[in-house]
Amino acid sequence: MQLELKDLTKSYDDTIALNRVSFRLTPGIYGLLGSNGSGKTTLFRIISGVLKQTTGTVTYNGENTRANSDAFRSILGFLPQDFSYYPDFTGMKFMLYIAALKGIHKNVAKKRCVELLELVGLEDVRNKKIKTYSGGMKQRLGIAQAMINDPEVLILDEPTVGLDPKERVRFRNLISSFSENKIVLLSTHIVSDIEYIADEILVLNKGVLENRGPSFRLIDTISGCVWETEVENDRLAGMLQQHLISNQKHAGNKTVLRIISKEKPAPEAKHVQPTLEDLYLYYFREEAVR
Ligand SMILES: Nc1ncnc2c1ncn2[C@@H]1O[C@H](COP(=O)(O)OP(=O)(O)O)[C@@H](O)[C@H]1O
Ligand SMILES: [Mg+2]
Repeated sequence: MQLELKDLTKSYDDTIALNRVSFRLTPGIYGLLGSNGSGKTTLFRIISGVLKQTTGTVTYNGENTRANSDAFRSILGFLPQDFSYYPDFTGMKFMLYIAALKGIHKNVAKKRCVELLELVGLEDVRNKKIKTYSGGMKQRLGIAQAMINDPEVLILDEPTVGLDPKERVRFRNLISSFSENKIVLLSTHIVSDIEYIADEILVLNKGVLENRGPSFRLIDTISGCVWETEVENDRLAGMLQQHLISNQKHAGNKTVLRIISKEKPAPEAKHVQPTLEDLYLYYFREEAVR
């Protein structure tokens, strides 16, 4: 199993949403990390065939996915970012509807839908209308529908938006349990969603794939660039303006600043261990300081 993107570019009138993106994925969990507008949805829509690239190719096991779109769609599961549910459908009716759209035979559809609803923990509410579901329940239904054809490639666009911390934990466990022998690619701008479950993180910034690798290796690239220093509050405004600050903790008339900087930001600043959150700020600093 191998999904390969080669020199994928997408231009809208005057915006280049993707700029020569190339990567190859084998089974595993991959987190596509990027701030809003970095091109994640565009990339996923192209891979899933909803949108046509300007140039470049997507191949699966060496076959062009546009030229063989039916074959690719049969092994692909996709949860779009703007996924719409039918509020008056029950979870079960919705799943059966998706199964019918995917051409799954009636005789097997029901069993498969029940199994999947069980797997995502919606068995108790499967006969309740979707409009009564919480955000987390809807997202789990979204994942269940993406899994209906037991896909080899599962693409989830911002699947954790709107989830509370408990639901996020549940989501991560769900993805980990699904992922065996699948290519799972999920996008997020929330670092903690992928820090521990993703085998690799792909950093997409303004349409360019900036980096990819296991979380620890990416974090390594900013080792030596994260500092902590305590400043008197009268110096605080100046420091905040000059530096990229990843955290500040007030204590009386002093503030402890966590600073991302190649140079030592203050004489008494000390190195600290970087985190993926620091890395995110390092790449997406414009959004961070704006
Ligand atoms: N249909 C479109 N027409 C013009 N520009 C678009 C369109 N869709 C997206 N874009 C632009 O492409 C860039 C990437 O958008 P998108 O793929 O939605 O990013 P993300 O999902 O990472 O937030 C943005 O600058 C966005 O404004
Ligand atoms: Mg998006």
